Amino acid sequence: MEKYVINGGTPLYGEVSVSGAKNAALAIIPAAILSQDICVIENLPLSISDVRYMIATLRHIGADVRYIDKSSIEIDSRKVSSYVISHDMTKHLRASYYFIGALLGRFGRARVAMPGGCYLGPRPIDQHIKGFEALGAKVSVEDNAIVEASSEKLFGAPVYLDIVSVGATVNIMLAAVKAEGMTVIENAAKEPHIVDLANFLNSMGADIRGAGTDVIKIRGVENLHGCTYSIIPDQIEAGTFMVAAAATKGNLLIKNVIPKHLESISTKLVECGATVEEYDEAIRVSMDTRPGKCNIKTMPHPGFPTDMQPQIAVLLALADGTSLISESIWSNRFRYTEQLIRMGAKINVDGQIAMIHGVEALKGAPVRADDLRAGAAMIIAGLAAQGRTEIEEISHIRRGYENVVEKISNIGGDIRMVYCVDPLDINDAG
Ligand code: UD1
Repeated sequence: MEKYVINGGTPLYGEVSVSGAKNAALAIIPAAILSQDICVIENLPLSISDVRYMIATLRHIGADVRYIDKSSIEIDSRKVSSYVISHDMTKHLRASYYFIGALLGRFGRARVAMPGGCYLGPRPIDQHIKGFEALGAKVSVEDNAIVEASSEKLFGAPVYLDIVSVGATVNIMLAAVKAEGMTVIENAAKEPHIVDLANFLNSMGADIRGAGTDVIKIRGVENLHGCTYSIIPDQIEAGTFMVAAAATKGNLLIKNVIPKHLESISTKLVECGATVEEYDEAIRVSMDTRPGKCNIKTMPHPGFPTDMQPQIAVLLALADGTSLISESIWSNRFRYTEQLIRMGAKINVDGQIAMIHGVEALKGAPVRADDLRAGAAMIIAGLAAQGRTEIEEISHIRRGYENVVEKISNIGGDIRMVYCVDPLDINDAG
């Protein structure tokens, strides 16, 4: 068992470089099988476990994957032969369900176990299924455990999403890209990784327009070819460092970012009293006073991302005044507040709203990473707090943050990973 130990209270200073976007990678890796060719993907966060699991899944269905360097791979999809993915492969992460759209697009058939991933509340896939069916697929869900989708031929069609869903938008794009005719996704998600996926598919010869708006038009093409593609920087990793700079009253130059993707986060940090300076591919965040309060409502892009909600809560826990956070995407995304309360935060949660009464300081404590972004919040809290924080269940954090100990140590944070004996692990006995 491993945990992070943080001695907090030191401002973060210096420069940190953001890795490629996890969420873009998780859509683009399965998309590569839509070509029966070779794709080179660059700027991938190859050391995070979510990306490793996606690569393992590619290999499981017959793709050859070669590591070129520490952030690039070559995917040869010519020998992909299976349309079946078992629970062993899908249980680790939500995004494994993108193989449904990708396999349907490649073979007209997919049999994929229901995905795992962070528990943030019920995670239905009705909008994905609605999209596949609109394209002509027959879809069934066996025992709530396996999704089977098949079609002799897919035909482009209009699809109106009842709810803005990143996952459904990605999956429908994957299934539609080689369907005959035009697919129009209305009320589509507009996240940066949707645009990145469209750019990747277009580099393979697809005809997708409107990604980044709420209407995406996909004119089906017969074949896709290989390409070389570099994915965008990670918006949420960048945002996490931005909040860490502010919460520790530090000064960080965060490099390899697209400032436009960070506007909703920058705006809120400025509202709290931080200074944010934008450059072409970098952003500087500094803070030298106690943060002020502000209210946050999570929304689909370009609104404030739900994936930044736990991190900004740490800053608000230290703010002068009372702030409100309203979570509008997930029903179970405030579990981390119990951990913050152990560190001295004053937070009341009522349904989808957290009321945060700022305190002058947090104190180090043993805490748990309940999920990926909750874990990021614990790191920020530990860095900002007085004293020693120990974070357990860090495997959640490793799902989405690359070289986190090294990156934080390089900017002055006192964090290390330690191995400890799990008292319930009989293999450690004696
Ligand atoms: C969502 C977030 C994404 C974040 C990820 C992990 C949005 C719009 N999406 O993406 O930014 O990175 O969680 O935290 O902010 N839904 C349905 N039926 C469906 C699909 C989704 O009702 O078929 C609902 C979900 O329950 C949820 C909302 O729609 O309440 C958004 O879901 P979706 O965007 O698909 O989730 P992710 O792709 O995981």
